[in-house]
Amino acid sequence: MKRTKGSAPRVVVGISGASGAIYGVRLLERCRQAGCETHLVASPAGVMNAHHELGLDRSALEGLADHCHNPADIGATIASGSFATHAMVIAPCSMKTLAAVAHGLSDNLLTRAADVALKERRKLVLMVRETPFNLAHLRNMTCVTEMGGIVFPPLPAFYLGRLTIDEMVNDSVERVLALIGIESAAPEAWTGL
Ligand SMILES: Cc1cc2nc3c(=O)[nH]c(=O)nc-3n(C[C@H](O)[C@H](O)[C@H](O)COP(=O)(O)O)c2cc1C
Repeated sequence: MKRTKGSAPRVVVGISGASGAIYGVRLLERCRQAGCETHLVASPAGVMNAHHELGLDRSALEGLADHCHNPADIGATIASGSFATHAMVIAPCSMKTLAAVAHGLSDNLLTRAADVALKERRKLVLMVRETPFNLAHLRNMTCVTEMGGIVFPPLPAFYLGRLTIDEMVNDSVERVLALIGIESAAPEAWTGL
């Protein structure tokens, strides 16, 4: 795993306004547990949904991260490729943020940080959430994949048995952590029938 100057891997976490704020929250919690240094950038719609779905306000959300950035602060550290980071995860990722990432439209810090991850060839995982998809959504997911990003809709693994919602969320987050190379990630492994 690529480590940054200190010793903790730096993970940029974007929270956008799709449903599923719990994915961003759980990811921040697990990154902390795993000893990662987290940089959070939450869009206004992301904060709104975190409040609607989880009752968390911006300061509660920000309390889960090591460093918090204003989405309008395009001069923040994570806006530059010279600031070494291990990976970025957008959890959840709205179709609007997906579209911006797919087309290099870096008009806020969240999409700029994702653009940086792609240009620096760092891991970028988008936990996209929408249903059903229109053609623009599908094309945008293809674009991001072609650029090296990983599109990861957090779909429940029903084959693991009767999981609670909490367990389903945990499983998706562990898979994402494994994808970005966090050593302590522990996704459920299929043991065969
Ligand atoms: C309650 C609620 C749920 C939403 N769920 C989704 C969703 O699942 N997927 C999506 O793409 N947009 C969803 N949206 C719309 C986005 O929040 C909206 O497009 C917003 O402009 C996204 O901005 P952002 O990407 O900068 O956060 C939802 C909005 C609200 C209010």
